Amino acid sequence: MELIKTAREMRDWATKQKQLGKTIGFVPTMGYLHPGHLSLVEKAKSQNDLVVLSIFVNPMQFGPQEDFSVYPRNIKQDSLLAEKAGVDLIFYPGTEEIYPQYPPLTSVEVKGITEELCGKSRPGHFTGVATIVTKLLNIVQPRRAYFGQKDYQQYLVIRQLASDLNLSTFIEMAPIIREEDGLAMSSRNAYLSPTEREQALALNQALEICRRLYLGGEKEVANLIKAIKERLLQEPSLKIDYVEIRKAADLGPLATINISAIVAIAAYLGKTRLIDNLLLEVE
Ligand code: PAJ
Repeated sequence: MELIKTAREMRDWATKQKQLGKTIGFVPTMGYLHPGHLSLVEKAKSQNDLVVLSIFVNPMQFGPQEDFSVYPRNIKQDSLLAEKAGVDLIFYPGTEEIYPQYPPLTSVEVKGITEELCGKSRPGHFTGVATIVTKLLNIVQPRRAYFGQKDYQQYLVIRQLASDLNLSTFIEMAPIIREEDGLAMSSRNAYLSPTEREQALALNQALEICRRLYLGGEKEVANLIKAIKERLLQEPSLKIDYVEIRKAADLGPLATINISAIVAIAAYLGKTRLIDNLLLEVE
């Protein structure tokens, strides 16, 4: 497995591989890899000749009060995990390599979908994500790029920008990988104390209640949201940011589930912000 730190070398490598007729699958991450990230690598391996994984903790997508400086980092462990998973190359640039001038004078702003859900509580976050992903796609030039349903709104934002900016990369999504007890895997779970780790189960359990009600015939959004909140409120230390059920296609409002919907939760446990979601697909 190779490790490259400069955009120039990364681009040269990608250009050479493309000339050799190889397709590149790309998995952008902020590191501290877990099986959720590695599931994206596996999918990328199954659909491309080569897999590039990037590790870059992107300052531009963190708010001033957020966890940029304490975000967990472990490049040694990440390299071992990536190599074992069959990654061909890790792109691991420093902040100055990506942002010679910070903040950059150019940014990518997606309107509409970024103003909902996480966009409301994290102003500027999706502009940071859209900008870094556009930059990484231009450097790595992959045939396909892989994103987790765990960050469903992020996936929609990237799909939108790829379409609006006529990018040639196909944007793919892969399902949420969970711990055995149901907690959605996340690098941020490392922040949780043992007690918070227990309390965090409420998110997935609330979504499971919603799924059961829905499969039992409940299609009214208001009733489903009420049931989710009831479960979340059983954890007094959990602070709900939002519970929403929206159209899966564009996060538009929905009163009755008659087309595919996304059930999304964001909540704080202490300082840790957790998100989870459930796709309810209507044929
Ligand atoms: P990061 O949080 O490291 O996540 C990298 C990718 O892994 C994202 O596409 C995310 O949705 C996916 N992922 C995280 N947890 C997952 C899980 N439990 N199951 C499946 N996939 C999971 O998301 C980012 O980094 C950044 O915003 C990035 C896109 C790299 C831009 O900086």
